[in-house]
Amino acid sequence: MATLFCHSDTFSFFFTIFVSLVLLSLRQPSAAAICQAPPVIFNFGDSNSDTGGLVAGLGYPIGFPNGRLFFRRSTGRLSDGRLLIDFLCQSLNTSLLRPYLDSLGGSRFQNGANFAIVGSTTLPKNVPFALNIQLMQFLHFKSRSLELASTSNGSMFISEDGFKNALYMIDIGQNDIARSFSKGNSYSQTVELIPQIISEIKTVMKKLYDEGGRRFWIHNTGPLGCLPQKLSMVKRRDLDQHGCLTSYNSAAKLFNQILDHMCEELRTELRDATIIYVDIYAIKYSLIVNSNKYGFGRPLMACCGYGGSPYNYNVNITCGHRGSNVCDKGSHFISWDGIHYTETANAIVAVKLLSMQYSKPPTPFHFFCRR
Ligand SMILES: *[C@@H]1O[C@H](CO)[C@@H](O)[C@H](O)[C@H]1NC(C)=O
Ligand SMILES: *[C@@H]1O[C@H](CO)[C@@H](O)[C@H](O)[C@H]1NC(C)=O
Ligand SMILES: *[C@@H]1O[C@H](CO)[C@@H](O)[C@H](O)[C@H]1NC(C)=O
Repeated sequence: MATLFCHSDTFSFFFTIFVSLVLLSLRQPSAAAICQAPPVIFNFGDSNSDTGGLVAGLGYPIGFPNGRLFFRRSTGRLSDGRLLIDFLCQSLNTSLLRPYLDSLGGSRFQNGANFAIVGSTTLPKNVPFALNIQLMQFLHFKSRSLELASTSNGSMFISEDGFKNALYMIDIGQNDIARSFSKGNSYSQTVELIPQIISEIKTVMKKLYDEGGRRFWIHNTGPLGCLPQKLSMVKRRDLDQHGCLTSYNSAAKLFNQILDHMCEELRTELRDATIIYVDIYAIKYSLIVNSNKYGFGRPLMACCGYGGSPYNYNVNITCGHRGSNVCDKGSHFISWDGIHYTETANAIVAVKLLSMQYSKPPTPFHFFCRR
């Protein structure tokens, strides 16, 4: 165990330097600081951006070795360290987003709040913690904040202007598609559901707009068919040249096309809104295709799980549970637990995302800093 941590720490140290250098190089020479006044951020989504919401909300245990690399304890994030959203916050020099449901954090949520929860879907819309429920939580948060903002200590709470200038981030859909497949639905039955899923996201964006929100940052969904979990559980094998499930990835790509199109529609409909669509799929798939270049030896195998090669995933013995094993160097793996990425992989995804090459229209993340 001792060497394991030693490696991780050393790696973390060097990788942090690497990421800092890349982030620095992205800075425009004229800008004195990336972000003198970071935006308030509200995030909605699933485990890809849950910074501890499931644990806070349901008390569901997410234990070590989650968090071992960066936080050195489990924070409720499903990774060995930081998630993409953490790197995005750090790129603006703002503190990491706290889960809305975190009752002991002592936070007044001045920098925003995270409503994302592990396992969330868009549909059905009235079960915890579907996107619509996350929206309702936000609406409650907003009305309570405004109420408190009008009291004597009001400046400690987000004001109407704060909500208006905030950045609204959404990263959801992966579980809707995954759940359809896992219920035994075919590819065509699954893709039939996509328009309803997108329509749900659109409804939530319009509601946030009606509430004053004008800045949106929308992530599309990653290559579902490259997750070790899916690869180990799906019996019908339709693998592409990189070893990923074609039908799962096709469904994800179709979802993304329709999401992209919906964002285009909304840009016409809500003329004074800024809506950025980010191609997470392209970023993640290129990581798998070029895994050697990044030092990922086994792009389709989980670092933490059970069963060994080729996927190291077993639904009965998942990461952190009795009997599971964990690799020595998470930096050699894209997949942390068969579903979620390692901090190393998340850091590379972040650097690529911040390059603007994957956002539509091309927009730097610090565009949303208050001036
Ligand atoms: C980042 O935030 C810290 C603490 O708020 C501040 O001291 C520092 O100047 C900031 N750095 C940049 C580059 O804005
Ligand atoms: C305002 O904040 C101060 C310092 O945090 C505290 O002592 C005081 O009780 C607060 N007043 C109200 C009305 O909440
Ligand atoms: C998981 O447990 C169930 C019930 O005991 C069993 O039927 C199934 O084969 C197990 N799956 C794996 C991959 O071991």
